[in-house]
Amino acid sequence: MRRINGSVLVSLALIGTAGALAFPVWSYADRSGTEQANVAAGAVNTRWGPLTASDRDLIVRVRLAGLWELPAGQQALERAPTQAIKEAADHLVVGHTDLDNRVRIVAEQLGVELPNVPNEQQRGWLNELTQARGADYEYKFANLLRAAHGKIFPAIGAVRNSTRNTLVRQLASDANQTVLDHITVLEKTGKVDFDAIANDTVAGSTASPTGPPAPRPGVSVPAAPPAEATGDISVTSQPSPGEPGVISTDRPEATVPEVPRTGGRVG
Ligand SMILES: [Fe+2]
Repeated sequence: MRRINGSVLVSLALIGTAGALAFPVWSYADRSGTEQANVAAGAVNTRWGPLTASDRDLIVRVRLAGLWELPAGQQALERAPTQAIKEAADHLVVGHTDLDNRVRIVAEQLGVELPNVPNEQQRGWLNELTQARGADYEYKFANLLRAAHGKIFPAIGAVRNSTRNTLVRQLASDANQTVLDHITVLEKTGKVDFDAIANDTVAGSTASPTGPPAPRPGVSVPAAPPAEATGDISVTSQPSPGEPGVISTDRPEATVPEVPRTGGRVG
C-alpha cells in the first residue's frame, strides 16, 4: 500500500480545513420546499448538497466501526485459531483501513467532527474478545462482529436511499460493499449463530410479516415463469461483478474529492 509522508498529510489537512471554513454552509432559504425539509432533518447545506442528521450519524458510525473492528481484526490475525477466521480478520483490517481513509476525507470536507476511540459498547465487545479463549473466542469473534454488521447494514441502505449529499451517497455505497463483504467472510467461518440473529431481530416486534402462506408438506406450487425482457434487445452488463458469494471491494484508493462546479449556486 502506498504511504504518504507526514508533511503531505498535514498540508492536505490544512487545505481541507481552509476549504471547509471558506464554504461551510450555503443557504437554501430562498428555495421553496427545501427549507422545511432541512429543518426537519437537522440539515445544513454544503457544497455537496444538504447534510442531514442521518447523514452525519452514518459518517460517525462508519468511523466507529473501524475504530473497533480494526483492533478486533488485528487480534484475530495474531491469534488465527482457524484459516477462516484469519481470512475474515484480513478482510476486516483491509476493509476498515480503506473505509477509514474515505470517511476521514468526507468528514473533513463536510465539517463533521469524528470520534477517535470506540464507544462504550464497542470497548465492551473488544474486552469480551480479549478475555475469550478457544471455541468461545471463535464464537464471539464471529457473532459479535456479525451482529454489529447486521445492525449497520440497513442503516446504510436507508441513508443511501435518502441522502441528497453526493459525498455521503458515495460513502454509503462504499460502506455497503465493505459491510456485505464482512458479513460474507464472517459467515464463512461457520460460527455464525443465525438463530440468535433471527431471535434478536424479532425481539420487541409484534408486527406480522406479510407474504405468501407457509408451504405445506406434500403440496406443490405452480412453477413461476421467468421474469425477463422480450423482443430483440441487446444487453452487455453482468448481474454481479464477481462469483456468487464473493464481494468485489477492488476499488481505487480514497482521494480528496474535487469541489463541484456550482456556477454560483449550490445543490
Ligand atoms: Fe466491518
